[in-house]
Amino acid sequence: MFQQNAQILWNEKVGPSYYRIGLDCRYGYTHAKPGQFVMVRISGGIDPLLRRPFSIHKPIVRNDRIVGVELLYKVIGQGTRILSGLQQGGHVDVLGPLGSAFLLPENAHRIYIVAGGIGVAPLVFLASHLVQSGIDPADCVVFLGGRTRDDLLCIDDFNNLHLAVHPSTDDGSAGDQCLVTVPVEFAVADDQPDMIYACGPEEMLKCVVAIARARSIPCQLSIETRMACGMGACLGCAVAAADMPGRYYHACLDGPVFDSQAIRLRE
Ligand code: FES
Repeated sequence: MFQQNAQILWNEKVGPSYYRIGLDCRYGYTHAKPGQFVMVRISGGIDPLLRRPFSIHKPIVRNDRIVGVELLYKVIGQGTRILSGLQQGGHVDVLGPLGSAFLLPENAHRIYIVAGGIGVAPLVFLASHLVQSGIDPADCVVFLGGRTRDDLLCIDDFNNLHLAVHPSTDDGSAGDQCLVTVPVEFAVADDQPDMIYACGPEEMLKCVVAIARARSIPCQLSIETRMACGMGACLGCAVAAADMPGRYYHACLDGPVFDSQAIRLRE
């Protein structure tokens, strides 16, 4: 894990409230893995004082070496609003790579990826890693959900990897008008995968876990939670352990990627 002053290579709007920022991280990212995250200090002043966590959306590769990271983010508060106004050539303080990564079990062939809204951020890196690891793109299906069509992100990224994408929206403005977990349930019944990966709102994750559990399908979740330090010091990112009442994991140290059977999502 490294702390560095990273130059902003680009900071582009990709939707009404979504941006992609490229950061030149000169050292420490050679072995960054999908699922890991960075903590970004957005301003040098006291507002906002705390760093913000962002999943690594894509590695920036030059001469076969990871030399930076791209983050996909949604403007939802003061910190991300300031971030969205930063210009190419500026700098932010970046700590990372942090946390656990998605694991690819041996003998997994058929893979389902379930993303809700900005939860898609770490899953593009995962998808490209799966394809590079030898998963046949024809065996990997992405279920993408959002409130409206504006919340369906990264379809082109998945299509460029030749993965099938099933979009759905709450208001029917794109794809099927339903929760993203509805087509997942049909697909699982029709053609059971060897692994489900998911990231998104907690209600969505609970539903995905129930679908996986009903058929004993391995499932890994990337948990989106508040993080103040990213290093196990503030205890602000507690996730309940499934099998030990009163025991908690740190999402920043033990996660953010967890086996779905290891944790208990909030009721
Ligand atoms: Fe501080 Fe996890 S973010 S302990």
